[in-house]
Amino acid sequence: MRLTIRDIRKMKTGNQPIVMLTAYDATSARICEAADIPMLLIGDSMGMVIQGHDSTIPVTMEQIVYHCQIVSRVTSRPLLVGDLPFMSYHVSDEQALQNAARLVQEGRVECVKLEGGESVAPTIQKIVESGIPVMGHIGLTPQGVNQFGGFRVQGRKLESARKLLQDAYAVEKAGAFAMVVELVPSKLAKFITERVSIPTIGIGAGIGCDGQVQVFHDILGIFDDFKPRHAKRYAEVGDMMRNAVEDYKNEVLEETFPAEENSFDIDESVIEALEQEDEQLRENS
Ligand code: KIV
Repeated sequence: MRLTIRDIRKMKTGNQPIVMLTAYDATSARICEAADIPMLLIGDSMGMVIQGHDSTIPVTMEQIVYHCQIVSRVTSRPLLVGDLPFMSYHVSDEQALQNAARLVQEGRVECVKLEGGESVAPTIQKIVESGIPVMGHIGLTPQGVNQFGGFRVQGRKLESARKLLQDAYAVEKAGAFAMVVELVPSKLAKFITERVSIPTIGIGAGIGCDGQVQVFHDILGIFDDFKPRHAKRYAEVGDMMRNAVEDYKNEVLEETFPAEENSFDIDESVIEALEQEDEQLRENS
């Protein structure tokens, strides 16, 4: 049975660290489920990780719905969180409700995530009141990259730290069941975590959060061009993949692939019969 937001909230009260990873496709989702990851985020980071954009801004509702469908189709245990993309919840409450509903109805996820603090609290409240659980996201909110002027640590100065704490309280009060805290100094993230009743899920926010979220591709070391400091590479899968692709290319060029074990047999008599019929078949074709 799928985990629920109650299970996730109980992890905070039971002091059990919460593990979350992104998953966008069937392969990564199956790997995460096999590793017993309790919560998967179909995040708009897919814009950078799999679509090759330099931000999450170009990601559309259609794309998130499509990837939610894939991940929900192949998993049965983790709680699934679908990310509301840029401008899919800012225009009006109606727009936010319709798009949140699409992720749940068409994408078959259980909850949605949206970015922002005090300014989006009324939207969070509306979605929660409609029966859809919401995960907040404060600190560095990548959809606001143009406003922030880059992917920078947030809340280092008193004024911005105060604003972050207010954002956390607003998201909690609006009814979110958890919140991502991204790129925030560890002590501030811990300060916030100790003061809110809902789980904080950190990314670049230190060990003091209730849980951690990472991008699947970052922890596997699939890319070399982008190595965020907040991510630890638990493997160098990118190197393995490049080596495998080169080995394949070389074996095709050397004509050592496919070998016997990758090929299929046929009775010699079939080939002999074809040889005899060949001329006739060519004439009749
Ligand atoms: O889109 C995403 O993957 C995210 C996480 C980095 C928290 O928002």
